[in-house]
Amino acid sequence: MKITSAELRGKWLEFYKSKGHADIGAVSLIGDGTTGVMFNVAGMQPLMPYLLGKPHPAGKRLCNIQGCVRTIDIDSVGDASHFTFFEMMGNWSLGDYFKREKTAWTVELLTNVFGLDKDKLCTTVFEGNDSAPRDEETANLVISLGIRPEHVFYLPKTDNWWELEGTEGTPCGPDNEWFYPIRNFDRPVFPDDYVEIGNDVYMQYKKTAAGYEPLANKNVDTGFGFDRMLLFLNGLTDGYKTDLFAGAIARLEALSGQKYDDGGEARRAMRIIADHTRTTLMLIGDANGILPSNVGAGYILRRIMRRAIRYCRQLGISSEAMCEIAGIFIHDVYGRSYPLLLEKETYILEEIKKEAERFEATLQSGMKEFEKCLAGIARKNEFMKKQDPSYREETVIAGKQAFRLYDTYGFPLELTEELAAERGLSVDRAGFDAAFREHQEKSRVLAKGQAKGGLESSSETATKYHTATHLLNAALKAVLSPDCNQKGSNITDERMRFDFNFPRPMTEEEIRAVEDLVNEKIGEDLPVVFREMSLEEARAEHFVGVFDSKYGDTVKTYSIGEFSKEMCGGPHVERTGVLGHFRIVKEQSSSAGVRRIKAVLE
Ligand code: ALA
Repeated sequence: MKITSAELRGKWLEFYKSKGHADIGAVSLIGDGTTGVMFNVAGMQPLMPYLLGKPHPAGKRLCNIQGCVRTIDIDSVGDASHFTFFEMMGNWSLGDYFKREKTAWTVELLTNVFGLDKDKLCTTVFEGNDSAPRDEETANLVISLGIRPEHVFYLPKTDNWWELEGTEGTPCGPDNEWFYPIRNFDRPVFPDDYVEIGNDVYMQYKKTAAGYEPLANKNVDTGFGFDRMLLFLNGLTDGYKTDLFAGAIARLEALSGQKYDDGGEARRAMRIIADHTRTTLMLIGDANGILPSNVGAGYILRRIMRRAIRYCRQLGISSEAMCEIAGIFIHDVYGRSYPLLLEKETYILEEIKKEAERFEATLQSGMKEFEKCLAGIARKNEFMKKQDPSYREETVIAGKQAFRLYDTYGFPLELTEELAAERGLSVDRAGFDAAFREHQEKSRVLAKGQAKGGLESSSETATKYHTATHLLNAALKAVLSPDCNQKGSNITDERMRFDFNFPRPMTEEEIRAVEDLVNEKIGEDLPVVFREMSLEEARAEHFVGVFDSKYGDTVKTYSIGEFSKEMCGGPHVERTGVLGHFRIVKEQSSSAGVRRIKAVLE
C-alpha cells in the first residue's frame, strides 16, 4: 500500500489547512429537505446557503471530507467502480480566493503532495455559451502552471458545468475537471485512457427559472473523490482492493470459503454485500440516522439492506455476515473519522440483525412465490402459443403480483425487478403503483371501520367470486383438459366452491398451475364484457355453458378478455383486477368422476 486511507485523509486536510482553511468536518448524510434530495450527494450540498452569500461561522476558507450517498447507480454496484456510499474531499472559498489560487493549489497538491506526473495530467474547462463565457482564464492559468497546452480541452455545458439537477435557487457554475491516466501507460490518450479524479467548480451563478444570474460572491467549490483517489494513488483499478474494504472482503472470503480473486458471481456478491453494508451502517449510524421502512429514505435503506441480504444468501452465507463486516468497517476503517459510529455500534448491529430477521422470515417463501409467477407466465405463453403460434410471449410480471411480493413477502419492487431482469423479464410498474394505491385505499377504509358493512358489501364479494368461477372454469380447461366442464358452484362471502368433471385427483403441480393461471388473468386486469346474442352466435363464438335454450332464443354472455367465454346471467365485476389474489384451499372428490375445488379470494 503506497498510501493508506488514513494518510490520504490527513494529507488533504493538512494541505488545505496550511492554506488557511478551517476543517468543518462532515455533516449528516441525510438530506435536510431543502434540495429535494434524500441524501447528501455532494460535499457542497450542506454549504448551499453559504455559497449563496450567508456568512459561515468558520470563515471564508473551508475544507472537509464529506460522506455522500448516491443510489442512482445501485444496479451497477458489483463491478469494480460503483459504490452507493463514497466520500468527497472538498474545499471552498466563500467569496474569497478564486481561480488564480485555486488552480495553483490543485496543481501543487496533485503533483507535489500526491506525486502525480504533471506531464500526464489532463484538464477540461468550459467552452462557453449564452449563460457564461468561455473559461480562457482558467485555461491560461493551468498552462502557466506547467500543464501541457495540448492537455487542456474546452468542453460544453454537458461536461463542464456543475449544478444540482433540477434545483432552482442553487449555486452553480463552470468547472475545471482533472483527469489522470487510469494505468501506467507510456503515451496515454485523452479521454480513453483517463479517469476523472476531481473538479474545481467556479460557483458564481445562481440557477433560476429563467436561466442563471450572477452571485454577489465568486466562490470555489472543489470535490475530489476520496475512494477513487485512494485507488488511484495506489496504482489499483479495483475499488474494492483498497484498505477501506480489505477487512470486509477478507471476512467474506473466510465465511464463504470462496476467493475474491477468483472473480465471477462470488466476487460480485462480495462487492455488493460490502458496499451495501457500508452504506447501511453509515445511514443507521448517522447523526440523523434512519431505519429501514416502507417510505422515503427508509425505503431506500430497506432496498439496500435487502439486496445485501439476498446476496449473502447467494454467496451461501448467513446475513449475520452483514453484522460482522459492519463491525469491521466501524472498528478498522471509519470509527476514527466518524466517532459516532463507535458510540452507536450496538444499535447499528442490532438494527441490521432485526431487518435481516424480518426479511429472512419471508425471503424463502417469497422466492417460491416469485418462481410461481414465472412458471405462471411460462405456462400462459405455452398455452397461448398453442392457440396462436404467432402469439408474442408475455415478458412482463403483473403489477399485482409484484405488489403481492412486496406486501406479503417484503420484496422491494426494485428487488423483484432485478430478479425479473435476471430472467429477461420486466415488471409492470404502473400496475404495481395501482395495486399499491388500491391497497392504501382499502387500508384507509378498514382503518375507519367501514370495511364490513360499507364499501365491501356482501354482494360485491359474491360478484367477485362469481367472476372467479369463470376464470377457474377456463383455467381448468387450459391446464387439465378442454373436456372439463362445470358441474355446479356455490358461493358465500367467504369462499367459492366449484365442481367439475375430472377422473382423478389433481396433482400439486396442476393445482398450482390452475391457481397461477387464474392469478395471471387477475393480474392482467382484463375487462369483463357482457353481450346478449343469439344462441347460434354464442355457439359459433365458442361460448361455454348449457345449450338447453330453444332455437331463436337470445342468451346472455360474458367474456373475460380472450381467456374465458361463458353464457351466464351475471352479475360480474367490470375488470378482473379487483379480484385480489386467488388461492385454492382444497381439492377433493365430490362424487364419481366429479372433483370439487374450494378457493378463496384474498
Ligand atoms: N460539487 C462538485 C462535485 O460534486 C465539486 O463534484
